[in-house]
Amino acid sequence: MSTTTRPGTPAAAPADRARQRLRELAFTSAEEMPEGAELPVVGELPAWLRGQLLRNGPGRWDFGGTAVHHWFDGMSLLHSFEVDAGRVTYRNRFVESKAYTAFRDTGKLKYSEFASDPCRTRFQRIQSMFQPQVTDNPAINAFKFGEHYMALSETPMAYEFDPSTLETLGVLYENPDMFATAHPHESPEGHMLNLAGKFGPRSTQTFFSMDPATLEAKRIGGVRRQRPTYQHSFGMTDRWLILTEFPFSVNPVDILRTGRPFIENFKWQPEAGTRIVLIDRRTGERGGEWEAEPGFCFHHVNAWEEGDDVVLDLCRFDDPSIVENLALAQLRAGADYPEDGNAYLHRYRLRPGAPRAQETRLSDAPIELPRINYRRHNGRAYRYVYGVGSGADVPFDRLVKIDAMWGAVREWREPDALVGEPVFVATPGGAAEDDGVLLSLVLDGRAERSMLLVLDAADLSELARATISRAVPPGFHGNFVRAK
Ligand code: CO
Repeated sequence: MSTTTRPGTPAAAPADRARQRLRELAFTSAEEMPEGAELPVVGELPAWLRGQLLRNGPGRWDFGGTAVHHWFDGMSLLHSFEVDAGRVTYRNRFVESKAYTAFRDTGKLKYSEFASDPCRTRFQRIQSMFQPQVTDNPAINAFKFGEHYMALSETPMAYEFDPSTLETLGVLYENPDMFATAHPHESPEGHMLNLAGKFGPRSTQTFFSMDPATLEAKRIGGVRRQRPTYQHSFGMTDRWLILTEFPFSVNPVDILRTGRPFIENFKWQPEAGTRIVLIDRRTGERGGEWEAEPGFCFHHVNAWEEGDDVVLDLCRFDDPSIVENLALAQLRAGADYPEDGNAYLHRYRLRPGAPRAQETRLSDAPIELPRINYRRHNGRAYRYVYGVGSGADVPFDRLVKIDAMWGAVREWREPDALVGEPVFVATPGGAAEDDGVLLSLVLDGRAERSMLLVLDAADLSELARATISRAVPPGFHGNFVRAK
């Protein structure tokens, strides 16, 4: 994977310089702010909004003179916004994983990350083939699971932290297989459902459930593949777990043989097409398999049953070039983002007996980091998806809401803003699906500061903003935990 910038960039115009500065702010390694600070609030927070927004994402990419290669490989920085009586207290703190402490203490990368590898001698490489030093840096998502607060990534384990201080408590559990997604679902019984991958001569991708009381993983069912595909999330309905296999796949032997970072061993093979597989959530039995056009996706949005049909929405890219577009050097240089590099809301209808899925693009507005009214609509028909949108060549410059039924689009945007995933929080007792607020960590490029932005989810009008004293990296995903 190339990390060079695109050639031939002419002298920067003011708009380009502002964009470049925004990128510098967003992708500069942060110093942690573990002491909570009350943030000045402009506007008014709803009185009912009480609890804690937890967010996670890469916050440090450099130690000493060493930098990782990819946005995704930065060290996990947890953010906490405690909201009560219209006031907001903010803190952030790095997760003290082994990867983080080794990087901090030695200035060297010791573990294999998603797209970055330590420099190794030939002997160390041979050694690492038998004992791969896979990262434990949990930099993608943060959840409350039962009574535990956890940070996780596509690593073999989840880390537990203290929600009041964000201090790292230790490894909470290890996955039944080596990799699992950072986008687990919650079953109606309150169990965590996730997808774990085991790569080897007989690679498998297996759904499992975990009881929050015992933290024991129980295998449900899955597939065995010679060339497993990259998995970041999955879909679920009441009955089905949905595995979407886009043709970005790997020969697992290459991960050991080539000595290249994990993701660089994956190959785009559009001729293989896409495969969508249903697994019964209760019995583990296979419920059918459909072919679809090649493409790529990080994030499923929602899925549900309509009679015997299954309907599945996700944010679909035409190909996996997004993975290269998010290389750190490219982001830091403010390289142009290709116009066709966006994801769009895409619907699949899976009909029993039909070999192919019916596919439709639901909107021409780009959308990524999608969120819905999860409590009420996950696994059921829904109408609204919220996410980050993109301009012609500027990624993540606006928040969007797409009506998946009628295609209408609403936007929130401001000059020189870089927006984060909008987390939907429903108004208690609210009747409409979109009765609630969106919480997003937004970098205000003009003020060179980050803020918690609070929007009305119905019309995306601004209710309030709480500004941090400096810019912080926007991160990936998070969740709101309501106060009891
Ligand atoms: Co994700």
